[in-house]
Amino acid sequence: MGHIVCSTSGGVLEIRLNRPDKKNAITDAMYGDMIGAMKGALDDDGVRAVLFTAAGDFFCSGNDLADFLAVSTQGGGDELKAWQFIRLLADYPKPIVAAVTGAGVGIGTTLLLHCDLAYVHKEARLTTPFVNLALVPEAASSLLLTQKIGHAKAFEMFVLGEAMTGEMAVDCGLANACFDEVDEVVQTARQKAQQIATKSAQAVRYTKSLMRDSAKIISQMTAEKDCFAKCLASDDARMIFEKFLNKSK
Ligand code: COA
Repeated sequence: MGHIVCSTSGGVLEIRLNRPDKKNAITDAMYGDMIGAMKGALDDDGVRAVLFTAAGDFFCSGNDLADFLAVSTQGGGDELKAWQFIRLLADYPKPIVAAVTGAGVGIGTTLLLHCDLAYVHKEARLTTPFVNLALVPEAASSLLLTQKIGHAKAFEMFVLGEAMTGEMAVDCGLANACFDEVDEVVQTARQKAQQIATKSAQAVRYTKSLMRDSAKIISQMTAEKDCFAKCLASDDARMIFEKFLNKSK
């Protein structure tokens, strides 16, 4: 089975991260598969919602750091498919639901800012430790997370790498509900996504688009990407990636 497993049932496209041995770190190839599946869903009237979930007890450890290191040595990383994925999220017209089965790092956390419904494991640690990696926030999280939890708390997460738990994510409105059991997280997310699929597709699409300032989100993503590219190509970042990747050797 591949590292991204897609299936459709009850009007819901389920995209499962399936690389548990690497804590579901997302490689360029995995981004490519997710982009393909999400774009395909746009042309398929039978798909009324997208559900992200993951294999194992870790939701997603973010971008694969080996991929970051590879592009870091070549410059800014404009070609990274992560950017296309993030851009797709900005104004994706169909609703997105997440079943956050465990911890999230980087995009594993910022993805939630683009989900319309999210269900999380109660003790899932959600982090955005961009500055610890000598990087900056992405996916418009510098705007959206700050709007959600305020400057001081967002700064603590971005710069000091502090975590929020699943429970805190519910309290601040980043997620709808948290559960003790992973199965409950997945079953609830699936059931809610299928519930969305029974509603008027047009009314759901308009509602989502009215609720999000996509133009502002896209402009923030562009500003973030410029800073991210500079940071990605820095010696500081390269050394951090190398240290992480060499730790088990
Ligand atoms: N990129 C590449 N490989 C990753 C990874 C990532 N983002 N996250 C985890 N892995 C790999 C580890 O290198 C390790 O591989 P190995 O078994 O071949 O040595 C394996 O996944 C398990 O990770 P490990 O660090 O041993 O597990 P842990 O439970 O001690 O820690 C994390 C889990 C996620 C906290 C830790 O791996 C981590 O900090 N990863 C980096 C997260 C990150 O900075 N992401 C980028 C955000 S922008």
